[in-house]
Amino acid sequence: MKDSSNQPENPAATAQPVPMMDLKRQYQPLHQELLNALDQVLVSQQFILGEPVAAFEKAAAERLGVAHAIGCSSGTDALWLALAAAEIGPGHAVVTTPFSFFASTSAILRAGATPLLADIEPTTFNLNPVAVEAILNGPQGASIKAILPVHLFGQCADWIAYDHIAKQHNLKLIEDAAQAWGADYQGVKAGALGDAAAFSFYPTKNLSAAGDAGMVTTNSDEVAERARMLRQHGMRRRYHHDEVGWNTRMDGLQGAILSVKLRYIDTWNQLRRTVAKRYHALFHAAGLVEAGPYPIHGIVLPQEVRGTHHVWHQYVIRTTRRDELRAFLTERKIGSEIYYPVPLHLQAALKSLGYSEGSFPEAERAAREVLALPIFPELREDEQQTVVSAIAEFLS
Ligand SMILES: Cc1ncc(COP(=O)(O)O)c(C=O)c1O
Repeated sequence: MKDSSNQPENPAATAQPVPMMDLKRQYQPLHQELLNALDQVLVSQQFILGEPVAAFEKAAAERLGVAHAIGCSSGTDALWLALAAAEIGPGHAVVTTPFSFFASTSAILRAGATPLLADIEPTTFNLNPVAVEAILNGPQGASIKAILPVHLFGQCADWIAYDHIAKQHNLKLIEDAAQAWGADYQGVKAGALGDAAAFSFYPTKNLSAAGDAGMVTTNSDEVAERARMLRQHGMRRRYHHDEVGWNTRMDGLQGAILSVKLRYIDTWNQLRRTVAKRYHALFHAAGLVEAGPYPIHGIVLPQEVRGTHHVWHQYVIRTTRRDELRAFLTERKIGSEIYYPVPLHLQAALKSLGYSEGSFPEAERAAREVLALPIFPELREDEQQTVVSAIAEFLS
């Protein structure tokens, strides 16, 4: 029967929900394959490292074109392990970005080194090499031992610039590749660019475990050997401790799951690229796009820099009315997220670094303007249309 009440339709009440991410859609087709892989581990009872992890490490290293992959218990631990294995510690300073997840900086502190922050580029949100050079040429330059760029949102940092800077100043390069499985920079995969790299397999990452897991990659035999030793309490021989390491081993069930998902990750990343391209087209067709880097009345879209292969861990737009837009989307049951609302230099826990409001204007502005929209390989076109229509309605 037709509604004859003449009430105008409330779009918020009738909206089709769009999740920020839906891992169940990934699990469904893999259900049996994953159960079989888990069963093999349960039958073998190899729960810590062992064959399931070794098999994943081997396959992962081959995929990335890197000599060594060392599985560990999280991306945070992988960052610490990469730094410690590269012999970065007390007395050393490491330059990184204020616009990242907390672990990019806290891992430097955990390694006993001092984080120095430099501002970001407004279009990619990645660490700006020009800002890094300014610090290197300043009074703290002599203490700097490494740079830790983050391949934020799935796009590699400006590696030609970092390679050049590292050679010039004799520095190590540690990649935070937590969000960038499968990304590349001029044909070289994230994880194979620096002296060492850290990956996270946290469930929301492009390549994800069923819990916490991470990995260090490196082309250096020495760094790999140290990372393997440090992830097991500094043991080279059982119960002989050469250094104070930590327990940061990957467990066998995660290794088995990751080996299965490794077979699909290239396809998933390709689908993410398709989703990103479709957002671009839909936003342009709706006439909402501004040239950027900064928004005025509309939105600025994320860019893929020439020479990089972006894997779209996140699709992050900029708008001056970010908080209002997010509330509007939430009312319509459309997922969104803010990565990151507070830059690291303004975090209470990092007060002792001595930065304040105004220290990194680009990172602070980004923190006010960014909004990550739903993106995952299985996101449907009609769901994307719902997202774009809602944003068009908000901006109209
Ligand atoms: C850029 C970045 N670095 C480090 C991490 C830490 O990874 P994990 O959560 O696996 O410890 C994450 C993920 O949360 C991240 O996004």
